[in-house]
This record gives sequence, structure tokens and C-alpha cells, in this order.
Amino acid sequence: MAKVNDNYLKLPGSYLFSTIGKKVSAFQAANPDKAVIRLGIGDVTQPLAPAIIDALHSAVDEMGNAETFRGYAPDLGYEFLRNAIVENDYKARGCTIEADEIFVSDGAKCDSSNIQEIFSLDNKIAVCDPVYPVYVDSNVMAGRTGTYDTKSETWSDVIYMPCLEENGFAPELPKETPDLIYLCFPNNPTGATITKSQLQEWVDYANKTGAVIIYDAAYEAYISESDVPHSIYECEGARTCAIELKSFSKNAGFTGVRLGYTVIPKELKCGQTALHGLWARRHGTKYNGAPYIVQRAGEAVYSEAGKAQLKKQVAYYMNNAKIIKEGLKDAGFTVSGGVNAPYIWLKTPDKMTSWDFFDYLLEKANVVGTPGSGFGPSGEGYFRLTAFGTYENTLAAIERIKAL
Ligand SMILES: Cc1ncc(COP(=O)(O)O)c(C=O)c1O
Repeated sequence: MAKVNDNYLKLPGSYLFSTIGKKVSAFQAANPDKAVIRLGIGDVTQPLAPAIIDALHSAVDEMGNAETFRGYAPDLGYEFLRNAIVENDYKARGCTIEADEIFVSDGAKCDSSNIQEIFSLDNKIAVCDPVYPVYVDSNVMAGRTGTYDTKSETWSDVIYMPCLEENGFAPELPKETPDLIYLCFPNNPTGATITKSQLQEWVDYANKTGAVIIYDAAYEAYISESDVPHSIYECEGARTCAIELKSFSKNAGFTGVRLGYTVIPKELKCGQTALHGLWARRHGTKYNGAPYIVQRAGEAVYSEAGKAQLKKQVAYYMNNAKIIKEGLKDAGFTVSGGVNAPYIWLKTPDKMTSWDFFDYLLEKANVVGTPGSGFGPSGEGYFRLTAFGTYENTLAAIERIKAL
């Protein structure tokens, strides 16, 4: 008889955003006259930039012509895209990364959840708390996290690194030594970043202990301060301890187009085994590549026109971030984030729980945000608003919150 993977049964509740979606649908069904503004899920609202649309159109035309038609993409992704990534995301920042160390994919969600597969189940993971829930959930599905304690909302075999107001939302080196360390900066959900020297400490720590850092830089395009690193490879020694994940979703609006990449330097080893070869094997066996037309669209992100247009798009969202942050401050909230990231992290008023504040905001202001506790136990008492809405909706939402 077929048996299921029991680890899936250990997962508490549904994925955070499914729960939010159900609550909002129920509210909307009961209140059809109310215009709900969604500043919850981190999905973008601005259309694709013209340079990207042009690249998509011409790639579609190529696919309709026998001479230029393309079938399966090369395992690691097309060279034109990998070369553009190397030039713009790495060489331009003084980082040494080669094109054959880039693995093009359909996004960072898949990569961040699949990467754990190449590591033994014996590895102990460390995560920032709060953080993007996919890191822990994918390790639960694999059977690496032990048992769940409903009271503390923690897994017995996960090292949680609290990121709180007291430590500037930056994790401290854990007391117990982990094998795999997930770091995400700029952080989802807190919007916090760490400086290059803080990240260097993590790189030194990983090299000393033999741990591997999985560095999720999905929000790198939103960095505005000069001492915040855009890539972990800006740190000395990162080639021997770090994997980097990148996405085209937030810098270029590809949430529905789907494109991302993972970097695994060839020097990165566990014992004698190079991780590059393992991930190449996995990629070749389980994945058939991002579509040609999407990879051409990705290449356009790095064109001069693409860069200029996307700079404006990022500025548009960061203006929303400013409106949210300043507006909430004026209304008396304690807020952080929103400077190097499109997320604003606020403390719930009057010691309300995150979910109570979610319900309150939905019912009284018809605004949807994300409860901090959905990102980990240390997120309790906090709430996330995103800057990815339209300018008009952002203004309206803040006016409604101010009027509460
Ligand atoms: C930290 C982080 N990593 C990865 C992703 C997913 O990126 P993608 O759209 O490329 O799958 C998100 C999406 O919200 C995210 O917040």
C-alpha cells in the first residue's frame, strides 16, 4: 500500500498566505460594499517595463520561426543571461563569480525550498526569527526539523535566531553550532539589513565551523544605504561557505513571469564533495529550465534601457514605503524597515497579538497586512505592510489607518 510522506502531516496549519486569502475572501463575501486594500502578500502591482516587454515580443517571434525556434534550454540556463548576471550583479560589484557557477531557475521560492535536498538530513538548520516561512517548511517536509511544540510554535531541531527591536532585527551568532544557516537580507518580513562587516562575521563564522550559508538576496535591488552588501560574495571567504539565491520577482516585477538563479561557487565543499556538482546533478535531473522567452526578458533587465526603467520602478515602490513609514509614525506606531526594503515592520498597538491586529485592520480600515507571527514566534506582536501596492492605494490605506 502506498504511504504518504508523514513529514507533511507535521506542518501546522496552511501556508500563511492561504490563511490570509481565506480570511479576506470571507470578509469580502460578508461585506461586498467594502473596498479592501491589500498590502499583505509581497506581490508587485506595476506592469513590466517597456524594455522587458520588447524583449518578450521579439523572443516570441523567434519561437514562431523555424530558424530561431528554441526547445529545451541548456541545464544551467542560456549563456547570454548568465553572462549578463555575472557582469552586472557580480563583476560590477567586485565579486568573482563565473558564468558556470550560475544556475538559472524559475524563481527563488523553488530554489530556497529545493536547495536543502543536496544536504544530509542530519544537518541542523538555523533561521532568523522571523523570516520567510519557506526555509523552515521545506525542511519540515524533508524531515529535518524534529517535533513541533504548539505552545512555543517552534521545532525541536531548528535553531532560531531572534531578530528583535533590541538587536536591531539582526541575528546574533547562535550558541549551538548549526550546519546550514539561512540568512535573508534585506529581510522579509522586517525590512532590516546588516552591514558588510556584520555579514563578514557570518562568513568568517561559517568558514570556521564548516557551516554553509544559504543567502537569500531577493530584495537586493531595494538597498539604498552604501554600507549594506548587495551580495554575500562581497565578503572575503564567501566562495568557500555560501550559496546565494536571487529572484527577478521584486527588482523587475517577474512574480508572474518567473525567473531567478542560484550561485554555487566551485570551491564550496562539504568535506571532499563540491556542492556545485550535486546541484548541477539535481538541476539536470529534476528541472528543465526557465523558458527561452523569459530568459530573454531577464537579459533585458540588464540592458541600459531596462536598468533605467527598473530604477524608476524601484523608486516608485520605495516612495510608497516612505508614505507608509512616515504615515504610521505620525499615527503613533513604532515602525522599522522601509529604507533598504519594500517592507514596513510595525509593532502592534496595545500589545495586541499579530492576528488580532490583522482582524482589527481588516474590519475597521479594510486594509490587509500580514501578521508577524506567521513568520516565526519572534514575529508575534508585529505586523508587516508592503510597499508593492499602487501609490493611490498606499495613500488611501494610510489615511484609513491614521483615521482609526
Ligand atoms: C525572501 C524571499 N525569497 C524568495 C521569494 C520568492 O521569490 P520568487 O518569486 O523568485 O519565487 C520571496 C517572495 O516573497 C521572498 O520574500
